[in-house]
Amino acid sequence: MMPTSIHPKEEQGKTHPSHGSDRHEMPHLRTLRRLGAGIVVLSLLYILLDRINWLFSARNGSITRGPLPEDNHDPNWNLFYHLGGNGPWIPHRSPLGSITDPLPSHCVVDQVHMMSRHAERYPTRSVGIRHLTLIDRLDRANHKLKGSLAFVKDWRYFTHPNDPTFDDLTTSGPYAGTEQAKRTGKKLRELYGHLVHADRRTRFWSCETPRDVETAKWFAKGFWGEDWKESKLAEMEVVSEESDRGADTLTPGDTCLKYIEDTEEGHDMGYGKLAAWQNTFTRSIAERLQHDAGGVWLGPVEIYSMMEMCGFEILARGSSPWCDVFTQDEWRAFEYGRDLLHFYRAGPGNKFSKVMGSLYLDATAEILKNESSKDVYFSFVHDGDIVPLLSTLKLLDEKGNQELPVNRLKADRNWKTSDFAPMSGRVIFERVVCGTEADSAARRYVRLSANDGVVALSGLKASGEVRHAYTLDDFQQFVAEEASYGDYNEVCGLPEDAPSKISFLHQ
Ligand SMILES: *[C@@H]1O[C@H](CO)[C@@H](O)[C@H](O)[C@H]1NC(C)=O
Ligand SMILES: *[C@@H]1O[C@H](CO)[C@@H](O)[C@H](O)[C@H]1NC(C)=O
Repeated sequence: MMPTSIHPKEEQGKTHPSHGSDRHEMPHLRTLRRLGAGIVVLSLLYILLDRINWLFSARNGSITRGPLPEDNHDPNWNLFYHLGGNGPWIPHRSPLGSITDPLPSHCVVDQVHMMSRHAERYPTRSVGIRHLTLIDRLDRANHKLKGSLAFVKDWRYFTHPNDPTFDDLTTSGPYAGTEQAKRTGKKLRELYGHLVHADRRTRFWSCETPRDVETAKWFAKGFWGEDWKESKLAEMEVVSEESDRGADTLTPGDTCLKYIEDTEEGHDMGYGKLAAWQNTFTRSIAERLQHDAGGVWLGPVEIYSMMEMCGFEILARGSSPWCDVFTQDEWRAFEYGRDLLHFYRAGPGNKFSKVMGSLYLDATAEILKNESSKDVYFSFVHDGDIVPLLSTLKLLDEKGNQELPVNRLKADRNWKTSDFAPMSGRVIFERVVCGTEADSAARRYVRLSANDGVVALSGLKASGEVRHAYTLDDFQQFVAEEASYGDYNEVCGLPEDAPSKISFLHQ
């Protein structure tokens, strides 16, 4: 069955297919004739333009070809770090080390918080429909495709067009989202197994989109075991994504009214920036591919769709011929587009970002104060909810103004979607306690990681005792300073009686 609801914050093209043409009306004969004449003229024009294009491209052989080996200069290239959030989970390769690095022997993690994006999935419905539209166009030029695009003749889309699994987790291949979520659960069990309580249920949370709920269940199988439910070890709480939850939400992008309504500086801002960059970076690719596409001129969104399909096909099948169609520099340009989208949609370039991320951070900071809670707190959300948290933590802010140009690629930027919000991307807060329980001088620290690579908080001095961790007091101070971003309900224009903070996050 085709899912009918589309998550408002998740990956979607701005253009929705028009449903107007579905209506069947009996057109007047004269209108039909006029239409016919129009079509003939347009077709002639199209053929003419096609020829002119061909003439120009034929003159310069160097731009009408697939990628050559010399286009790819970087021998250490790993495409997974350039897929802009459409790729499989990858560890953040941090110079500060990983959460698997051993702690000093007198220290132990005694509380853990994780905010995770859902696992590897198929494209959302609107993105998938965009792909199918492109494939349809290429199919019509099928007999003319050659070189780097010859494979398209025999290639099939990675979910059946008549019964697509859009929006859901992938379930096949080495990067199946289901198995990935379970693997993550197992990995964290090895690290935090001592925080599992046999005598009471531990709660965990998911927003209500099916792929998130599924991710949470598969994760629970890995962390608490296949029988997590029957054994009464764990209990899932599904948190609705309805807008009336106000600040009491895991998905602030759904409840912050002004963010949704402001078409200039709200949620839509990222799409405008992406579109501007698409128009710039795809031009040379379209020129290069025109020969292999049998003279077909591929538009900005079409080129972008081809590049998206590389990541999504990897998630479903493990590999994709689309990945080889583009050069490393073209992937860098695509990646930059994905960065612009997220930086301006819910990241530091968006004025609502930091106040949206403060909801979860405030709730987490509050629980970190509770010394008697030796628990894990796992929550599953969308990229549009994890990006604001990264922003509030100031992990990837640009120096100075929070801006990225749309007319050129800024190589020395901090914001990297690929590295921080891949499928299954996660932020983990560990509370580390050093000294014995009886020791009244026990010292508590917070260590932060993104995709298991330890990250630093700007402006804070790390402790000497646990590498790259901060004293709990310093961390609380850091969180308190975000009050300057304003009050969520006020900034978002919520009604007087709307809930003002997260209430469900407790064991
Ligand atoms: C041919 O392509 C190269 C590389 O893109 C470009 O530098 C050159 O100006 C082009 N020449 C013509 C005649 O278009
Ligand atoms: C602290 O955590 C414990 C264990 O989860 C819980 O029972 C208690 O209510 C919490 N205290 C506060 C003040 O939230």
